Amino acid sequence: MVATAAVYPDGGLPSADSPDLVLVPAPPEERLECSRLHSVAFKGSLDIQTYIARKNHLSQQHLTRDGLTCWVLVERNKPPGQRTILSSCETYRKKGFLAYEGNVEDILTHGVGTVYSRPEFRGKGYAGRMMKELSQKLDTWQMENERRTRSVFSVLFSDIGKSFYTRYGWKPFPSFHISLPAITEEEYRQEIAGVNLPKPRTLLAEDVRTCMCNDNIIQQERELLRAASEKSSKAQVAIVPDFDHFLWHWAREEFYAERVLSNRDPPLVKGAGDDGARVHCVWSRNFGESLKDNTLYILHWVYDKQIVPSQTKATVKAMAAILRSAQLEAHRWNMAQVEFWSPTPLMLEAIGLLDPSAKVVDREDSSICSLKWNGAEQGLGNDVEWCLNEKYTWC
Ligand SMILES: CC(C)(COP(=O)(O)OP(=O)(O)OC[C@H]1O[C@@H](n2cnc3c(N)ncnc32)[C@H](O)[C@@H]1OP(=O)(O)O)[C@@H](O)C(=O)NCCC(=O)NCCS
Repeated sequence: MVATAAVYPDGGLPSADSPDLVLVPAPPEERLECSRLHSVAFKGSLDIQTYIARKNHLSQQHLTRDGLTCWVLVERNKPPGQRTILSSCETYRKKGFLAYEGNVEDILTHGVGTVYSRPEFRGKGYAGRMMKELSQKLDTWQMENERRTRSVFSVLFSDIGKSFYTRYGWKPFPSFHISLPAITEEEYRQEIAGVNLPKPRTLLAEDVRTCMCNDNIIQQERELLRAASEKSSKAQVAIVPDFDHFLWHWAREEFYAERVLSNRDPPLVKGAGDDGARVHCVWSRNFGESLKDNTLYILHWVYDKQIVPSQTKATVKAMAAILRSAQLEAHRWNMAQVEFWSPTPLMLEAIGLLDPSAKVVDREDSSICSLKWNGAEQGLGNDVEWCLNEKYTWC
């Protein structure tokens, strides 16, 4: 049941700066109410029932089972069921790396998502109050068993431009991507032959786990951050690209495929790779509101980032071939395009082989990578570099 607005002594709702307001984790019945309320904004092409079922399914994944919190801005003195949800959001606990002055640490961080105020309460400052409260809550939230008991950073992905979240400390960071159109089988054969590209192999979930998430690979990413922090005065942070992130994204696409595309086989191909060149990528399919929004996102790339110049050609060719197979996979799933975030110089070279006219897009309105840095108060400097800022981090 959707709660109606509480009647305040002055006949309205508490103001956004009222001391009577508090931000608390929602109990299960309010979580459900939040999902119902915000479904209008976030359900895409799903109906409300299916959207809620997907939310429940996604909350049971490895990434979220213990780490997902639904927050509600409510009146302090009213119990659940009798209070009005003025604004709500979710936070996802994630593993992070922090490197500073040549030392690297495993830390905990949070991603913020599903920020919502219902239409009738908008423009009154409730979401702003919630973000202000959240910023304080996240300082120590779920940190009890950590070496650092205060949060170093948290992230979110703004779909409402750059100014709103900046006010509350989440500053916009570089948010670039490249997008390539889907291609047919015929186009794929011609393109691969035309530029003489190697043929990548497809990766199933287990291949992604072994090729892209093994301890060595994760350790290498950690070491790269440490090395970067030796050369830079800025702290270097990243969300760990672990298997749990990929499982969560796949749970999303598999749920859609099962419920909406029930006449198809499940989407088993989860990426592509070239073992010889040691380049691998993992992807997931995002089914949007219309066909043109359907996008195959490359969640993460793994390749040798300390490659010697004589080997870069093989790496670039492998990347180009992998991108072509992603374009073909996109076509097979009725996706309009392939998109990947934060292209590196080698990826730009690969794009140069495939489509020199492809543009790097600087996102100004949606999915703006935003990070709140608390490191200055912890002696970690004023500036921070967000490394591995790829799509897998999105929530
Ligand atoms: C965004 C949202 C949470 C704001 O809630 P709210 O309670 O009205 O927020 P506040 O009253 O604290 O602040 C409103 C500010 O947000 C800005 N804002 C709201 N929607 C915006 C949008 N689509 N683009 C840019 N700014 C937006 C308003 O312009 C306003 O700015 P102002 O203070 O300079 O006038 C609410 O509009 C909403 O739920 N929208 C639909 C879901 C959504 O887009 N969520 C954000 C996903 S990142």
